[in-house]
Amino acid sequence: MSTAVERFDDKARGAFDRIGDSQVYEGELLRHRVYTRFLHWMVAVFFFLALFSGFGIYLPWLFRWFTPIFGGGPLARAMHPWFGIGFSVFFGLQALNWLAPMTWTPADSRWMRNIKKIVSGEEKLEPPDTHFFNAGQKLQFWEIIIGTIVFLITGIVMWAGAPTFGRTGVWISYVLHDVSALIMLFGIFIHVYQSTIGQPGTFQSMTRGAVSERWAWTFHPAWFQQVTGRDAREAVEQARKTGSSEPKVPLI
Ligand code: HEM
Repeated sequence: MSTAVERFDDKARGAFDRIGDSQVYEGELLRHRVYTRFLHWMVAVFFFLALFSGFGIYLPWLFRWFTPIFGGGPLARAMHPWFGIGFSVFFGLQALNWLAPMTWTPADSRWMRNIKKIVSGEEKLEPPDTHFFNAGQKLQFWEIIIGTIVFLITGIVMWAGAPTFGRTGVWISYVLHDVSALIMLFGIFIHVYQSTIGQPGTFQSMTRGAVSERWAWTFHPAWFQQVTGRDAREAVEQARKTGSSEPKVPLI
């Protein structure tokens, strides 16, 4: 029996598929539907608007660089909370949309125990049980959820100010808000690197929605097997034998 959240997501995915378009060519798999891509880019836009307006009003040495983008200091200050709310709303919808594939599994715990080898490049193969998202992606997703809740609570405290929450409440909120922003920013640097240069072939999943089969068996073998019914290792061997090459994505 489907839950209210699943029914809401299904309806939204269907509605967005009627408006937008995903382009999947031969040898490719659909990875992110229109609704997911729309939410992702709205999250990214509001994230950077909140980031630039926030840094502009918070750091004096960035004030004269960033605040003119928003029409000056007072306007940047006035708009920043609304950018934050926009970010939270779109990320909240994305969180519901991705709840199922982001659920932690025993395979993720095994992935984490192997993380040293994966990060150092010693382990070339993604473990065969790596599904739609790997444990690193899931960790970041849950960090953003916690960070967004911290942003919302501390932001509201700072917005209402000392008369409502007291000077100590506002002071603590400033610290937590900024620490959360720095943690998230650090994660987003890694995320942008991984989604572009780090894992070639990933970026197109958030533009036209598709990835190559080769990308899928390289980075998410269990997902590849689920959607194609083919074993990832056998697919690699077959590609090696036929010599079919796609230079941008490594043949594990
Ligand atoms: C502007 C630069 C950005 C680029 C180029 C980018 C690119 C991508 C791509 C290609 C994916 C799909 C990965 C996959 O299918 O495995 C993705 C997923 C995702 N993006 Fe972004 N993104 C950007 C900004 C952001 C921002 C600002 C946030 C949130 C604050 C964000 C949150 C996520 C999350 C949670 C996922 C799913 C898990 C993951 O792949 O890490 N992205 N992004």
